[in-house]
Amino acid sequence: MLRTAILAAAGHPTVERLVTTASVAQNLVARYVAGDQVEDAVRVTRDLIADGLTVTLDRLGEDTTDEAAAAATTAGYTGLLEALAAAGVAPPAEVSVKLSAVGQRLDPKLATENARKICQAAAAIGTTVTLDMEDHTTTDLTLDTLTALRADYPQTGAVLQAYLRRTETDCRDLAVAGSRVRLCKGAYAEPESVGFETALDVDRSYVRCLNVLMAGDGYPMLATHDPRLIAIGEERARWYDRTPDSFEFQMLHGVRPDEQRRLAREGYTVRIYLPFGPDWYPYLMRRLAERPAYVALFARSLVSS
Ligand code: FDA
Repeated sequence: MLRTAILAAAGHPTVERLVTTASVAQNLVARYVAGDQVEDAVRVTRDLIADGLTVTLDRLGEDTTDEAAAAATTAGYTGLLEALAAAGVAPPAEVSVKLSAVGQRLDPKLATENARKICQAAAAIGTTVTLDMEDHTTTDLTLDTLTALRADYPQTGAVLQAYLRRTETDCRDLAVAGSRVRLCKGAYAEPESVGFETALDVDRSYVRCLNVLMAGDGYPMLATHDPRLIAIGEERARWYDRTPDSFEFQMLHGVRPDEQRRLAREGYTVRIYLPFGPDWYPYLMRRLAERPAYVALFARSLVSS
């Protein structure tokens, strides 16, 4: 419930002003985000790879409202890919793209064409793109774009959210050869008509979906920091004889770094979701909603400032 309240409050301009000017926000941003510039993203990517991890980069920004901004985001991604290739870190690093950042709310066809340019730039340097999943009103559009992109770039990855009731079926559709699917719990506020309400139901759905993906023919990407779900992922990898090159764990930069390195030491492929750029506000609010203890920290710092 607190999570839903935080996500609802995040859209309020006064809350945005309070959070973006609070000094405590800067500390949290430094924990979760590589920095403002492409150079910061490349430097942190290099460090993570040196630690035995791999990376998917998110150029922060979403809900673009005009065509010029969508084109600028697209160019930002192609520039990022060139910089990663020049630094010798892509591959293995890839990029994650929110379709709303490249124009999905303006025109889904425009977003698909912009995403295609990013896929083309990624393929040219031998790496991949994963399409992030946003709120449930965009799920069908995003999966349509995925289908269109996979016709030319079959390695394009999808994200499915275990908190949606539809997701087990989507997992069955996508557990096919060549398909890359990131399974996460889901980070948006969703109505009960489409989403599971309790944490237990979301976890149960995650396990059902994980079973479908790990038993299937695709490449599962298990995105969670939840110790129980990670243990189930490790167990299913043994059941289904999944070698380290046939699935991966994924975690967010700044969350459970010791566990990230433990899994890598055990021989698993571990990919870190690494955001960068100045537009960190919505990303930070979703992370706060997952960690209500930070909200108390925030409240105390706002009162004492
Ligand atoms: P849960 O929230 O239950 O957390 C389990 C434990 O992890 C916590 O007890 C805590 O120890 C730690 N933890 C979790 N979040 C933390 C935080 N913010 N700060 C500190 N500790 C934290 N969502 C989405 O809707 N669309 C998407 O495209 C993606 N993409 C994505 C990529 C990757 C690589 C990851 C890891 C996650 C996403 N997500 C996402 C976010 C995802 O849906 C979910 O909100 C978070 O991963 C938190 O869920 P957990 O599975 O970690 O469980």
